[in-house]
Amino acid sequence: MQAVIVEEFGDPPRFVLRDVPTPEPGPGQVRIKVAAAGINPVDTYNAKDRSWAGLSPGCILGYDIAGVIDTFGTGYRDYVVGHKVMAMTAFPLGQGGYAEYAIVDEQLMAPLPDDADLVAASSVPLAAGTAWEVLQKLEPAGATMLVVGASGGVGLFLLQLAAAAGIRVIALGQERSHDVMRQHGAAACIDYRSADAIARAKDAAGGSFDSIADLVGGPLTGQAQPYLRDEGVIAAIAGPELDVDQMIDANQSFHGILIRDNGDRVRHLAELFASGRLKTHVTRVLPLAEALEAHRLVDSGEAGGKVVLTP
Ligand SMILES: NC(=O)c1ccc[n+]([C@@H]2O[C@H](COP(=O)([O-])OP(=O)(O)OC[C@H]3O[C@@H](n4cnc5c(N)ncnc54)[C@H](OP(=O)(O)O)[C@@H]3O)[C@@H](O)[C@H]2O)c1
Repeated sequence: MQAVIVEEFGDPPRFVLRDVPTPEPGPGQVRIKVAAAGINPVDTYNAKDRSWAGLSPGCILGYDIAGVIDTFGTGYRDYVVGHKVMAMTAFPLGQGGYAEYAIVDEQLMAPLPDDADLVAASSVPLAAGTAWEVLQKLEPAGATMLVVGASGGVGLFLLQLAAAAGIRVIALGQERSHDVMRQHGAAACIDYRSADAIARAKDAAGGSFDSIADLVGGPLTGQAQPYLRDEGVIAAIAGPELDVDQMIDANQSFHGILIRDNGDRVRHLAELFASGRLKTHVTRVLPLAEALEAHRLVDSGEAGGKVVLTP
């Protein structure tokens, strides 16, 4: 099969598209004929620095996969060959999506209907899964949420999931994305680059937030913290600069979140996607041979939406 091999990690990394042996599924695993592999920022970090995920040269990147079942290893089989599926490979060591075929544990897969758009599906598992985990932590806090990084891959999924849960989301993102953010469920959109962005967000929230989702890291959540209510909750997927003393004085809580394997979550999201209740915003689809350009698009934010590779 053809696959994008990481010959050298770095910035830029060295990718080579070449023929490699088609992988064989082990017990409880399936081989998926990949129709599309969604790219996430973690893939570009891994390509630059393999240490966090413990990768080795010669590996194949890519956690998010959609395709059809090609064959099974031994073990239980809830699916048939040819069934459309989406999956997030085991995190962080799994990977293998940037290829014609990939191996996934059957329990980490989700079935999709015959008419499912596999390019769109490949952008769902990791980013929507992260958004879902964030919502689990913040939904109990109340009905007004500030989302920092609302225009990104995770953000657009969080807007939809939060709106469906009846939460009023104040969304921070560049103005170029405000229409898309509104279409995905934002109640108010504010460009974080304007000097009074946090004051306007506070006003849009009616004076205070019940929760803050930080999907970017950096100073914005700390700036918004004075307007987080007593006993309010912050969840972050990247490192925010926070005033811990203020959190103590106001009895506020903080949740750090790193996505973990959860097949039930993938299947729940696949159901939402298949029924049209979870939309994706794929803006660039490139062939495997252009994986390096695809990573550049993700890193630069130029794509303004999800980037997907197709074999
Ligand atoms: N912990 C986890 O499990 C987990 C899971 C998934 C992702 N992540 C991390 O979470 C982050 C977001 O992931 P993603 O997939 O949503 O990335 P993405 O699609 O590349 O989106 C990046 C987001 O960051 C915003 N942003 C960039 N620079 C900013 C700045 N200076 N101030 C405020 N916002 C800024 C962008 O807004 P504009 O485009 O409007 O500027 C956009 O909303 C990445 O760092 C990723 O590695 C963590």
